[in-house]
Amino acid sequence: MTTISGKELAARVKERVKEQVAELKARGVVPCLAVILVGDNPASRVYVNGKEKDCIECGIESRVIRMPETTAQDELLREVRRCNEDASVHGLLVQLPLPEHIDERAVIEAIAPEKDVDGFTPVNVGRLVVGERCFVPCTPAGCMEMLRAAGVDPAGKRAVVLGRSNIVGKPMALLLTAANATVTLCHSRTGNLADVCREADILVAAVGKPRFVTAEMVKPGAVVIDVGINRLDTGKLCGDVDFESVSSKASAITPVPGGVGLMTRAMLLVNTLEAAQRSAAK
Ligand code: GUN
Repeated sequence: MTTISGKELAARVKERVKEQVAELKARGVVPCLAVILVGDNPASRVYVNGKEKDCIECGIESRVIRMPETTAQDELLREVRRCNEDASVHGLLVQLPLPEHIDERAVIEAIAPEKDVDGFTPVNVGRLVVGERCFVPCTPAGCMEMLRAAGVDPAGKRAVVLGRSNIVGKPMALLLTAANATVTLCHSRTGNLADVCREADILVAAVGKPRFVTAEMVKPGAVVIDVGINRLDTGKLCGDVDFESVSSKASAITPVPGGVGLMTRAMLLVNTLEAAQRSAAK
């Protein structure tokens, strides 16, 4: 059984980004990521701090725009448009979730597609569906990198994705389809879930439930990608997969922590670099 380490892979990706950032800077372009954070969701704060640290490490300029919980939708939209128009900003994301009084879709749709490093705008989602070049959402992009690093070619394989979110499940299913896997996208209303999972050569868990995937749901020799980051009452982090039992059955598995989460962060840097490179090439 192989543990696919996000730590080593993310470090390699970041090294590559760092080198290319230096090249861009030598040509007078300083890649810049703007992150808008509304309110004080504790998890969001942690994520945004992580993004800022990653940028600095790679030589990317990080601009975090913090707005109060009470920010009106119009004010937020104005800030998004200001960043759209600011030529020194190459990548722009609005940290989710947003406060309840704000229409999340309206805000995402306001982001300029060429700065949408999360790959959440309808333009980038549409491009992903039809197979055009686009910004791919960071978590599924990171999962695909992990499969590649483990030497797993999805072509001809059965893949099962658990969870149909716009951020992970749906784009993951599209990427695996593009890589010629036969994909089943499961969700909370799927019947006979364990039977479906047992068909999977590649099983991707993105349901947000601690240790949801147990050994009985896994085909011997399957490759298991665990997207979950759940905090237990003990304070410990755990994934959507019961690592202990599943690791004895899978041929390869990603750990939590130290797995997909690190790759999500690394892919945001890749997308930001790409946004800056594209803008420099114009
Ligand atoms: N909240 C949780 N994950 C993400 C993400 O990948 N991007 C944004 N913008 N918000 C998130």
